[in-house]
Amino acid sequence: MAESKKPTDDKDERTNDNKDKQTNDDDDNDNDESVFSKLQDLMNRFSGLMSSSTSDEPVEDPVLKSFDLKSAAEYMSKCSNIIVMAGAGISTSAGIPDFRSPGTGLYSQLSKYDLPSPEAIFHLEFFRNNPKPFFLLAKELYPQKFTPTPTHFFIRLLNEKNKLLRIFTQNIDSLERIAGIPSEKIVEAHGTFFTSHCLNCRKEYDLEFVKEVIFKDEIPHCTDCDGIVKPDIIFFGESLPDRFQQCVQSDFSKADFLIIIGTSLQVAPFNRLVSFVDKNCPRLLINMEPAGKATSIWDLGSSSLLYDTNKNRRDVFHKSTCDDGVTELAKLLGWEDDFNKLLESEGVSVKNVKENLSTIPNETEENANHLAEQMAAATLNDNKKKE
Ligand code: OAD
Ligand code: ZN
Repeated sequence: MAESKKPTDDKDERTNDNKDKQTNDDDDNDNDESVFSKLQDLMNRFSGLMSSSTSDEPVEDPVLKSFDLKSAAEYMSKCSNIIVMAGAGISTSAGIPDFRSPGTGLYSQLSKYDLPSPEAIFHLEFFRNNPKPFFLLAKELYPQKFTPTPTHFFIRLLNEKNKLLRIFTQNIDSLERIAGIPSEKIVEAHGTFFTSHCLNCRKEYDLEFVKEVIFKDEIPHCTDCDGIVKPDIIFFGESLPDRFQQCVQSDFSKADFLIIIGTSLQVAPFNRLVSFVDKNCPRLLINMEPAGKATSIWDLGSSSLLYDTNKNRRDVFHKSTCDDGVTELAKLLGWEDDFNKLLESEGVSVKNVKENLSTIPNETEENANHLAEQMAAATLNDNKKKE
């Protein structure tokens, strides 16, 4: 599949796409007038998409009775091939910062410091020169350091109800595995800590080897060639795992319901998956902020969610925390008792969850702040050494 090659900042990739697109159009059409009319047509379609006040009516019948959680749950109760697409927002209530939330997100904490860019921790070239900031993050996110959230357990419940086709996660914290979702149901699109490889000779290392070294605040080096050993987390510019490509191809055409949860949908190719389901497959976004909307004419009809446009037939945006959203969804599905039982059996009492929810933002912000301070110190020290 042409699109599932590299994780990129979608904004960058779009810019390139746009250039390609315009160049091709220029080749095809020397005639200025036809280019102009094409552009005008695109603009008209774009304003139709972006504005909910236009008089255009949707062409086909809606798939959902109404565009809210209740209707989504009603539809979902009949589905058996549900795909979940998850992001960092499902783990923030475990105290793990996300990347892009203003204030609490790791990137915004890092932006206070004089780093090349906050995303640099996931760039291979930066890592080769200075792997320390990444290993500080790795230590913080080390599997088993955190306990899964109610959202992770809700996804497990989906599986126990024989409804989960697959969870595609962008997260590298392994909380899906720790929550007891079977590994064959999980696709870790941005990789995993479970295996690592030497950047030089590709020798494979296991979790224990890396853990031992990074917990001593040292950098893991290859025992054969002394190259840096990097966990198999996908960095910007690297190919996504083969399993991602395979499962995208086998799953998305089968999906009868899509849940998108806790992600800003800003990173390609992951964010494009929302457009790979059938046009009649409902797409439910549970997130603290809107995501996945068309932001430019180049997004038209392709990868965008249409929940606040008059073209909407099947998209629902439920604005809430992930944990609140899934708790309400469980109630609407009639699974409240099963969900509570599962949480209790895992030591997550409903009372604790409520208490957690009120204290989490502070804890997450503190964690992000602390981590950012250490990463910045590691980077700035390294820069000084080089001077
Ligand atoms: P982001 O930080 O970009 O987005 C997280 C989204 O979750 C935001 O829209 C938040 O508003 C929302 N959110 C945060 N906490 C929430 C909560 N408790 N309940 C509901 N919503 C919440 O994270 P991702 O979209 O996962 O790449 O980022 C994608 C990729 O960018 C990551 O995988 C990472 C990063 O660069 C790699 O690791 C390679
Ligand atoms: Zn090596």
